[in-house]
Amino acid sequence: MTHTYARRQVLAWALATAGGGLGGCASAPDYKPQRGQMGKDVMWLPTSERLTEKMLQLANAGPQDLLYDLGAGDGVIPIYAAKTRGLRAVGIEYNPKLAAHARQNVQRAGLSERVQIITGDIFAEDFSRASIVTMYLLPEINQQLRPTLLAMKPGTRLVSNSFDMGDWEPDARFEEGRELALMWVVPAQVQGQWDLQFPERRWAMQLGLRQRYQNIGGSLQIEGQTQAVLGARLSGSELRFVFVGPDEGTYQVRMQVQGATLKGEVTSYGVTHEITGTLRQAVRG
Ligand SMILES: C[S@@+](CC[C@H](N)C(=O)[O-])C[C@H]1O[C@@H](n2cnc3c(N)ncnc32)[C@H](O)[C@@H]1O
Repeated sequence: MTHTYARRQVLAWALATAGGGLGGCASAPDYKPQRGQMGKDVMWLPTSERLTEKMLQLANAGPQDLLYDLGAGDGVIPIYAAKTRGLRAVGIEYNPKLAAHARQNVQRAGLSERVQIITGDIFAEDFSRASIVTMYLLPEINQQLRPTLLAMKPGTRLVSNSFDMGDWEPDARFEEGRELALMWVVPAQVQGQWDLQFPERRWAMQLGLRQRYQNIGGSLQIEGQTQAVLGARLSGSELRFVFVGPDEGTYQVRMQVQGATLKGEVTSYGVTHEITGTLRQAVRG
């Protein structure tokens, strides 16, 4: 673990400081990127196809997805993802020569219909349409991007080669030998006070939720009595928890967060009923 951590420190330092510059490169079609050549914020190093495959597995990538690779390099991730998952992909690459080279690789792979390489800055381009974002950047760049990433559609999957997102813990990870990939699901914003409607029982129910990224806790007021919210989990826009009702029954709740409303079902005594909620007061974290 210590060895792996030390290696990542060295890798982070190398990605940030390696030289090479943009100037010394011949232009396409002869252009060949050099490992370690400097980019705007991070140098170029390609993700291996093997790790790309693991990253796509972590993101559960499928044909319906739109993938954005931030800092696309030679296009390996968008190309591999489009080829193996049938999805559409966009790569954003700052270095115009590298972007042109990636476009050529897309063309060679016969994927021009589904893969686009934009010459641009990841801090200026809009990638909010993505359902999957891939990154091989640096810890501090990930953290600079974090507010933008957290504001994406709930359920968007973010996958990073090697580097974390500060105190935002990943939802899943792959680690083998020298390779590490981390995956986060963008959580819905649920912190605040909710009124719940459970027509089958007609209890007056208020749900208070606290949130730190995907981690949530809270309590329920049912008919004026405080009950703990048990086993609360938030994955994208799906909220799950369990509570014990005034009748001592155990109730399993599963709801979808849709902005200021909750819609879902509650199961108890083997029977499932509808439950909904409305946001009374949001509390920003
Ligand atoms: C470590 S490489 C990763 C390349 C590719 N994503 C992969 O995993 O194979 C990082 C890439 O980001 C590019 N880059 C650095 N800063 C950037 C920025 N602000 N906007 C867009 N691309 C950037 C570099 O030129 C380089 O190609």
